[in-house]
Amino acid sequence: MDHERLDVEIIDHDFLTRTHLGRLQELFDGEYRHTHGRWSPHRPYGYSPADVHVLIYRGEELLGHAGFQRRGITVGHHRIRVGGTGGVLITEAERGTGIGRILLHHIRQTMREAPQVEYGYLGCGESVVPFYEAAGWHRIAAAERSLSRATGRPRYVAAGAPIMILPVSRSLDQWPRGVVDLHGTPW
Ligand SMILES: CC(C)(COP(=O)(O)OP(=O)(O)OC[C@H]1O[C@@H](n2cnc3c(N)ncnc32)[C@H](O)[C@@H]1OP(=O)(O)O)[C@@H](O)C(=O)NCCC(=O)NCCS
Repeated sequence: MDHERLDVEIIDHDFLTRTHLGRLQELFDGEYRHTHGRWSPHRPYGYSPADVHVLIYRGEELLGHAGFQRRGITVGHHRIRVGGTGGVLITEAERGTGIGRILLHHIRQTMREAPQVEYGYLGCGESVVPFYEAAGWHRIAAAERSLSRATGRPRYVAAGAPIMILPVSRSLDQWPRGVVDLHGTPW
């Protein structure tokens, strides 16, 4: 697969143009419209919106996206600044060729340059844990409090569901023990 022709764009949410939004709509609706309805940039499927987006193109075609939102969460009694990561999607025809890996590389680089991001943070399904691990993310076992993306009500998930963290300005062993409170909806 020829990846030399890929372009990567990193853009703040506030600078997304109509053209960006149209392409993102097409990418997400292509995957999720039949199961989750239409994608919305400010509250995608009830999740928290990204404040930084990484976009991968071949020419004019948007092949993939990931985003993160900076937020202070608590873990036990500790305040931790994370890049809450979501909207990780590669268009179906292009999967399995390394584009997701490139996307996660740029997410990591962008978080490193962003002010005050100590760790990347995301929740995912079991099947994609190896994908994130291959890019330097680590699975942790912790219970998680958040606000439900469906109802906005407080939600508690016992330890066990995959939570992945990416050491950015702090190391893996500096991650504190304790219940994670996202202080908002997940990503
Ligand atoms: C998950 C996804 C983003 C991966 O992107 P991709 O471009 O197909 O992944 P890559 O080809 O870059 O793979 C990178 C590595 O992860 C592994 N990997 C990728 N998808 C995987 C999966 N679903 N399960 C297990 N391993 C996976 C690859 O084997 C590869 O490892 P290797 O180089 O050691 O072989 C893509 O499959 C996708 O968009 N899926 C649907 C949406 C989704 O599930 N998003 C994640 C939400 S949390």
